[in-house]
Amino acid sequence: PRNAERGDDGAVRLGGVDVRALAEQHGTPLFVMDEADFRARCREHAEAFGDPTRVHYASKAFLSVAVARWVAEEGLSIDVASGGELAVALRADFPPERIALHGNNKSLAELTRAVDVGVGAVVLDSFLEIARLDQVARERGRVQPVMIRVTVGVEAHTHEFIATAHEDQKFGFSLSSGDAAEAARRVLKAEGLELVGLHSHIGSQIFDASGFEVAARRVVGLLAELRDEHGDGILDHVTTIDLGGGLGIAYTRDDDPPPPAELARQLRDIVSKECEHAGLPVPKIAVEPGRAIVGPGTVTLYEVGTIKDVQLDAGAIRRYVSVDGGMSDNIRTALYDAVYDCKLVSRAAAEDAGAVLCRVVGKHCESGDVVVRDCWLPDDLAPGDLIAVAATGAYCYSMASGYNRLPRPALAAVVDGEARLLLRRETEEDLFRLEV
Ligand code: LLP
Repeated sequence: PRNAERGDDGAVRLGGVDVRALAEQHGTPLFVMDEADFRARCREHAEAFGDPTRVHYASKAFLSVAVARWVAEEGLSIDVASGGELAVALRADFPPERIALHGNNKSLAELTRAVDVGVGAVVLDSFLEIARLDQVARERGRVQPVMIRVTVGVEAHTHEFIATAHEDQKFGFSLSSGDAAEAARRVLKAEGLELVGLHSHIGSQIFDASGFEVAARRVVGLLAELRDEHGDGILDHVTTIDLGGGLGIAYTRDDDPPPPAELARQLRDIVSKECEHAGLPVPKIAVEPGRAIVGPGTVTLYEVGTIKDVQLDAGAIRRYVSVDGGMSDNIRTALYDAVYDCKLVSRAAAEDAGAVLCRVVGKHCESGDVVVRDCWLPDDLAPGDLIAVAATGAYCYSMASGYNRLPRPALAAVVDGEARLLLRRETEEDLFRLEV
């Protein structure tokens, strides 16, 4: 987080609040979210893309009612990928016209609710859905604005992207097979639907704009094709190109992601150039950042428990530092080999303490339960110390489980020296909540 600093006594303050006080009050593991950092990143994206409503916060990264309110207050739009995410956004009184509904298998109930509340867009993902949504809208005498999710054949992760052969996946309408153009034909014929945009999402944790550029070029190519087939009139309706999420963040000090303004400029340049080339008016560019807004400003506080030195073959040791959470509050290391970093935050290390290569592991009953694969922690680390794992705001709480019946951690927001609990820790009573 931006608002983290080490006090004179060596303990870290987040948003002006001492981590020891946070742990004391709310227990550990604890997600601590820096509200000012979150809002600043909303604003940076809004400024970069010139209009806050064109920035759709991807709520799958993290969502609670309070956070949906922050997003609404900052003027952004929100992207929801299920009826549950939609329900949370609505509970926060999120303006429905700034909500877009995603998903490759939306249920009839989800589509119906979206139409009933008047979401700003449904991002269509299959021929079945075109027919279903058209019917739902017509039954209600409504015209539902929609976008078409186009599979552009680009897959990007971090530094590389692959520009061919990645249509073999469940999302969207393939561009190369002609399905995307056929989807547009059907939508244009559907009385209950209005085509307002074309959508593409190419991946996550992307550091390099070249994958976005290829995607943008292909989506503009489709728009030109649609104009040729259906005439200029279509351009009065299809005014948005949504290039999805995926902007990467720094998980360790070695990562150096591009700022949103740079991505925005590159996207504008490529879209303008391609449109000029194709004789099209330049559409609005929308994006759906999740990780880049909520990821960096949150840490997970854990209390250190067991410490074990394990002798490796080469004669070296590996120090296993066990914490009081694990893969139930951060599955990303186990699932994606994600790289995290952490620090001792409840005190300064002793002056003569060296740094030891450690592996931070959880308390679950399996050996893949790793939170931080490799990190340097001071030699004098001891049970009861607090460590903070950085950049855990995205896809940690939202992918949390109750494995081994561990309670889901609490989540507190800090700002200007005050902490506020947004989500309480699960209790033992919660274990029996669903028992019939
Ligand atoms: N838009 C669409 C259509 C998406 O599918 C996603 C992410 C986003 C936006 C937001 O992407 P972001 O800006 O957050 O990268 N669980 C994985 C990430 C899966 C992302 C799926 N879709 C992880 O923990 O890295």
